[in-house]
Amino acid sequence: MDKSNSITPVVKWVGGKRQILSEITKYVPETFSVYYEPFVGGGALLFELQPQRAVVNDINCELMNIYVVIKENVEGLIADLQRHKNEEDYFYRIRELDRNREFYSMLTPVQRASRIIYLNKTCYNGLFRVNKSGEFNAPFGNYRKPNIVNETALRAVSAYFNSAQIGFACQDFEDALQGAEKGAFVYLDPPYDPLSATASFTGYDRGGFGREEQARLKNSCDKLNKKGISFLLSNSATDYIMDLYRDYKIEVIRARRSVNSKGERRGDVAELLVMNY
Ligand SMILES: C[S@@+](CC[C@H](N)C(=O)[O-])C[C@H]1O[C@@H](n2cnc3c(N)ncnc32)[C@H](O)[C@@H]1O
Repeated sequence: MDKSNSITPVVKWVGGKRQILSEITKYVPETFSVYYEPFVGGGALLFELQPQRAVVNDINCELMNIYVVIKENVEGLIADLQRHKNEEDYFYRIRELDRNREFYSMLTPVQRASRIIYLNKTCYNGLFRVNKSGEFNAPFGNYRKPNIVNETALRAVSAYFNSAQIGFACQDFEDALQGAEKGAFVYLDPPYDPLSATASFTGYDRGGFGREEQARLKNSCDKLNKKGISFLLSNSATDYIMDLYRDYKIEVIRARRSVNSKGERRGDVAELLVMNY
């Protein structure tokens, strides 16, 4: 099937790769059997490549629910999104819904997906941010005309998901990579190793992703390498990551970053692409 130009990420995500996509695509192998993206987030590379066979995963189950709903009931999602209002009181009422776990668990998958997309489009800075209890805690953004219902993109993504063979999962990256076989291509975009102790952004989900997790990920890369599976990994250009992956090919690229904890480090930063081919 031809690639669709209407397909763009449906949520804005911390660490979104849209600005450096052209750098990344230069290093994607020309052919592979199955595409794996175990830290999919906003899915910028997935939507750029639109592979016909893929396994996509993120530990954030609210995010993965959005993708499954887009595949299975995009019209229901669009209808539900249309009833949202870009008003402060309304925003906080919708944001509150996850404070009552019992009530929240009764929402349908469509209602949950619609809530997260709405909050993502109307909250400050357009991010998914939760506190330690897993409750959405970004404040109202007060934007003039947020694009809450991007029907064209949602329908295009849905058409793609239904024309391809894609497995969606919400688990740890190691589990998501279990079935990968020789010939597959894996793109890894984990939470980055922080450039400084204060720059760490841990709002993706509860738990965080510290150096132990980075080392566990490197171990997974070694296993992929042994199985003859190509992997490409994005991370920040810290001494720790450079040293961890010293046995692999490392390319340094410049990225424009606008999202971090305080906004104090906006501008160009070096990022790494690590690969075993
Ligand atoms: C840098 S973001 C991915 C950005 C994405 N590639 C994009 O273009 O928007 C990292 C993602 O890893 C997820 N994550 C964190 N820990 C994880 C784990 N142990 N296993 C799988 N996913 C994890 C987070 O929920 C987050 O969505």
